[in-house]
Amino acid sequence: MAPATPGTGGLTAATDLDEYLERLGRKGLLRFITCGSVDDGKSTLIGRLLYESQLIYEDQLAALEADSRKVGTRGEEIDFALLVDGLSAEREQGITIDVAYRFFATDRRKFIVADTPGHEQYTRNMVTGASTADLAVILVDARKGVLVQTRRHSYLVSLLGIRRVVLAINKMDLVGHDEATFRAIEADYRAFAARIGLTEIVAIPVSAVHGDNIIARSAAMSWYEGPALLEHLEAVPVDGDDRHQPFRMPVQWVNRPNQDFRGFAGQVASGTVRPGDRLRVLPSGRDSTVLRIVTADGDLPCAIVGQSVTIVLATEVDISRGDVLTAYDAPLEVANQFEATVVWMHESPLLQGRQYLLKSATRTVSATVAPIKYKVNVNTLDHVPAERLELNDIGICELEFDRPVAFAPYAENRTLGGFILIDRLTNDTVGAGLLHFALRRSQNIHWQALDVDRRVRAAQKHQRGCVLWLTGLSGAGKSTIANLIDKRLVAEGRHTYLLDGDNVRHGLNKDLGFTDQDRVENIRRVAEVAKLMADAGLITLVSFISPFRSERRMARELMVAGEFLEVWVDVPLAVAEARDPKGLYRKARRGELSNFTGIDSPYESPEAPEIRIDTTVLAPDQAAEQIVEALRQAGLLAPPP
Ligand code: ADX
Repeated sequence: MAPATPGTGGLTAATDLDEYLERLGRKGLLRFITCGSVDDGKSTLIGRLLYESQLIYEDQLAALEADSRKVGTRGEEIDFALLVDGLSAEREQGITIDVAYRFFATDRRKFIVADTPGHEQYTRNMVTGASTADLAVILVDARKGVLVQTRRHSYLVSLLGIRRVVLAINKMDLVGHDEATFRAIEADYRAFAARIGLTEIVAIPVSAVHGDNIIARSAAMSWYEGPALLEHLEAVPVDGDDRHQPFRMPVQWVNRPNQDFRGFAGQVASGTVRPGDRLRVLPSGRDSTVLRIVTADGDLPCAIVGQSVTIVLATEVDISRGDVLTAYDAPLEVANQFEATVVWMHESPLLQGRQYLLKSATRTVSATVAPIKYKVNVNTLDHVPAERLELNDIGICELEFDRPVAFAPYAENRTLGGFILIDRLTNDTVGAGLLHFALRRSQNIHWQALDVDRRVRAAQKHQRGCVLWLTGLSGAGKSTIANLIDKRLVAEGRHTYLLDGDNVRHGLNKDLGFTDQDRVENIRRVAEVAKLMADAGLITLVSFISPFRSERRMARELMVAGEFLEVWVDVPLAVAEARDPKGLYRKARRGELSNFTGIDSPYESPEAPEIRIDTTVLAPDQAAEQIVEALRQAGLLAPPP
C-alpha cells in the first residue's frame, strides 16, 4: 500500500483504516473501488469527489493549489489527480502504481474508495482493492469505449464477488456530450457484463475534469435522466453485513502468557459470538464453550464480524494457528481438494504439478495445481486449454492441499474462501484465487492398510529401501555413474533398480516433452515411482536431469527423512558440451533442438546436495565408489533395524 500522503485526506495504512472503521461503526459505509485504464481520468474523478464533498481543509487546499501550479498539467486550474496520486514517483511517471485508500463523507454516508491502477501488469493491486469492496466504479473513456482492460477489470470485479457496478463514461465533453455515443458504449458494456453475471449496472455520463454529473446533474447533458455519481453512491443499497451469518473465526495465534491463561486470538470472519456459545474447532471437530471474550479494553458481552478478539474456552482443547472456530451447529466443510479460480500475478508462469505455498485466512499449506482445467480469455470469455498460467492469466484449476482445511466457498465468505499463492523458493506472492467447492473425489478414495508393509519388505531383503537421486546436465555422466553403482550393489547382493530419464521417457513418460511444465510432470511421476520402489525395499537409483529445485525438493519431501540422497553430478557446461555423447548440444546450438538444458532451458544447481561429484576430477568408477561409500556411511547398506 502507498504511504499516507499528507494534505490529501488520504488514508492508507491498514491500521488507520481499521481505526477509522471502528470509529465510524459499520453503518452507512460504502466501500468501493475504481477501475480504469491509465488515461481514463480515474484520479481526477476521485479527486473531484473528495474535493466536492469538501473534505479538504482550507490549508491543505492552499498547498494543493501551489503543487498544482508547480506540476502544471492543467495550467492554472487545480489538478484533481494530484489529490490521489500520492507518491511523487508516480506523479513523475504519470501513472498510479499501488492501491491507495481514501475516505470522504457526506451527510448521508461515509465512503472508502480503493484507487487501483489501470496498468495491465497491476492486476495484483486491483484484486487487493476489490476484495473488500461493495461496489465498483468502472471508468471508460467516451472516445474509446469498452477496452480489453475494461473487460478484464469487470471480470475480476465479478469474480471477487462485487455485484454492483457503476459504468462511468468519462470525458463526455470530448465527444460533444453526445447521447448516442453514451448509449452505444452502455449497450456494448451491458452485453458483456450480462455474460459474467454483472446485472446491477448503472451507467452515468460524466466529465470528471469539469465536474459534470459527479455531484449534481449536468446542464450540458439534459438528455440524461439518471442520478449524478455521488447521488447514486449515497443511495445505492449496501448488502447486509455478515453479522447474521454463522460465527467463524480463524485462529491467528494462541495467546498463552502464563499457565493460567490460554486464549485464541483472531478476527471474526462472520457472525456473532457470546460467552456461553458452543463452538466447534475445525478441522479437528472438537468442541467447547466460550467462557470469555477478551480485548485490550476489557471483556465483551458479544463480538461481531470484523472485530479482533481473544476467545477463552471453558475446556482445554488442542487448537493451533490456522484452525477455525465455528458455530457448533453450523460447521464448515473440511477438504483437501478443490476447484478454484487462480489469477496469476508473476512473470514466471504457474506450472501445473508444481507445489506452491497457499495462504488462506490464517493458515498456510502446500498446494499443487493439477490440473489446470482451462484459462479464460477475458475478452471473449472463451475457455482455453492450458498447462501453465502466464502473468495476468485467469485459470480454473483443481488444487490439492497437503492436508485438510476448513473452508467456505469464496462466494459465501471472502476470508475463508480467498487465498494467495507464494513461490516456495523465492517467497514472492505469485497468485491469488478463490475456492469454489471441494472435490468429492478424495473423499471416496481411502487409504488401504496392507499387512505386508515396507518394514516387512525391507527385512526380507536385508536392506533399507532408499532413493539415490542423481541430478545434473545432459552429458554430465549421471547414467554412466548410476550404471556403475548399480553393478557394484548387485554384485554385493543388493536389490536395486535404476530409473533412467531416457528409458522412462520411452514408456511411462513418453507423452512428455521438454517444456518446463512437462519436466515438472516428468519429475513428479518419477518421484512417485521411486517412492513406490523404495517402499518395496529397493535401493532405487534415479538418473534424471531434474533441472528445477522445486521438483527435487518435492521428491525429497515424498520420502522418509534420511532415505533420500541427492547426488549432484556436477560438470561445467563447456565440458558437457565438448563431450556431447549424443550430439544433442550440437543440434541445440544449430537451433534444431529447442528447450535444451543449459542452452535455452535453465538448470538450477542444487544448493545442499548430500553428495557432489566433480566429474572434471573424478573418473566414473571413482565417483561410483565414492557414492557407494556415502550410502554405507549413511547407514543405508546396513541391515534394517
Ligand atoms: S528432465 O529435465 O525432464 O529431467 P530427463 O532426464 O528426463 O530430463 O531427459 C533428459 C534426456 O533427454 C537427455 O539426457 C537427452 O538425452 C534427452 N533430451 C532430448 N531433448 C532434450 C532437451 N531439450 N533437453 C534436455 N535433454 C533432452
